[in-house]
Amino acid sequence: MTARVDELAAGTRMRTVLTERAMAAMERAYAPYSGFRVGAALLASDGSITEGCNVENASYPAGICAERGAVSAAIARGVRDFTALVIATEAERPTSPCGICRQVMIEFAPRLEIVSVTRGGADARWTMSDLLPEAFTPTSLGRR
Ligand code: THU
Repeated sequence: MTARVDELAAGTRMRTVLTERAMAAMERAYAPYSGFRVGAALLASDGSITEGCNVENASYPAGICAERGAVSAAIARGVRDFTALVIATEAERPTSPCGICRQVMIEFAPRLEIVSVTRGGADARWTMSDLLPEAFTPTSLGRR
């Protein structure tokens, strides 16, 4: 078994890059209704980084979260093997991904490492299984 590289360890170059990319994506968020801007930077095993931001809509339920935006954009580029995600917000405390995003992320990355950062420099870290234990996954359907 090969040891997994801890790309999200505090102080690593990759964590800095992902944080910068997530913050930049947050700046591009379209969140006129909630005023709550979110950016996401999703790292894949090929080293590529895909960004996402929340995109709200006058028809509120049509809006989409930053995390799902990033997953969809990566899949469309042919990238599915995600290893790490950084989420950036302007909240006071780091926020964790919503339930729908957790379900979407675990489909592709059951071992995803997730860090949430704030503008003020606070951070929190979880694994996918911390956030969605006992999940319904492709394995539950007898797939994979
Ligand atoms: N939002 C995200 O983009 N990601 C999350 O993990 C939580 C919530 C967005 C959805 C909505 O545009 C705004 O934040 C307020 O809920």
